[in-house]
Amino acid sequence: MAGESVLDFEGRVAIVTGAGQGMGREHAVMLASRGARVVVNDINEGRAKETVEAVTGAGGTAVVDSHDIVTASAELVQTAIDAFGRLDIVVNNAGINAYGRFWEMDADLWWRVFNTSFQGLVQVARHAMPHLIESGTGRMINVSSNALMGLPNDTSYAAAKAAIWGLGNSLAGEGREVGVQVSTILPVAWTPMLEDAFADPVIQQVLRENFPASAVSAFVTWLAHQDTTVHGQAFEIGGVAAARTVFSVLPRVQVAEATPEEWAANASTLMQDGELTPLPAASDSFRAQVVNLAPEMDAYLPADAANVSGN
Ligand SMILES: NC(=O)c1ccc[n+]([C@@H]2O[C@H](COP(=O)([O-])OP(=O)(O)OC[C@H]3O[C@@H](n4cnc5c(N)ncnc54)[C@H](O)[C@@H]3O)[C@@H](O)[C@H]2O)c1
Repeated sequence: MAGESVLDFEGRVAIVTGAGQGMGREHAVMLASRGARVVVNDINEGRAKETVEAVTGAGGTAVVDSHDIVTASAELVQTAIDAFGRLDIVVNNAGINAYGRFWEMDADLWWRVFNTSFQGLVQVARHAMPHLIESGTGRMINVSSNALMGLPNDTSYAAAKAAIWGLGNSLAGEGREVGVQVSTILPVAWTPMLEDAFADPVIQQVLRENFPASAVSAFVTWLAHQDTTVHGQAFEIGGVAAARTVFSVLPRVQVAEATPEEWAANASTLMQDGELTPLPAASDSFRAQVVNLAPEMDAYLPADAANVSGN
């Protein structure tokens, strides 16, 4: 940190969900090390207490909260208000995973993974939002995953993480109007969750050395800071490297007539690779498609064409 001033969170209050271990613990420790008062939420109370001890042992301030984010998110948010009187930052980090073939997996387990990872996040966000608005510099960082692109044998988790991405990008637009910045991260870090996913010792060693959970915390802490203006974006983050992540399209293919036979005849063209065009928002996708078929709309449509589509 030579020559850099430390990002100061004095006076700020943060909730980190799933902070009893893994990345959540590191997020709580790092935010507290910069002066934030932290609510350490984890359904596993013993582990949440260990995180609080790590924070207070280093001179920081934190309280334990063991509410289930799915069923008791109002109580979780209330913990922050009761303990510290305000709420400025929410790191929606808690999530669970379970593997299995979609059609063989126990339906209750499938929904438990989805609901813990998505419904829990929605509920925490819903109850936190009024306080984040009141903060004036509210920050919400939602933890998705590159699994959102699709991961065989991990359908529930992938679906939940895709839902988080869509929710976050939408909420970011609403948050902009009320001073709340919403960001999404797709992290990679060596945590108990990843230990379950990779049995190969070679991969384990590389992950352990290059992808410490605390590296993701550095990125989260930057996004959470009141002076950070970057928001409404999703980022891959692992170790010391990050990349902004956007939806893109390959060149559009146009058929002479909208018939199934025309598409069958043009399938190989449609499947060709080509130059990628990034589509940072749904409005860009809508606009590009309309202008492609009706070029005269280029001047007519506002840059934010989603307003026209009523979205
Ligand atoms: N580890 C990775 O490389 C990786 C990759 C992509 C995304 N993620 C995501 O990052 C987040 C953190 O991952 P991690 O690897 O540190 O996970 P982890 O399994 O080590 O920790 C998750 C914590 O969440 C807690 N939790 C589970 N259900 C809860 C509930 N209902 N209420 C409150 N707490 C609950 C667990 O007790 C646990 O302590 C998760 O959302 C995960 O999906 C992780």
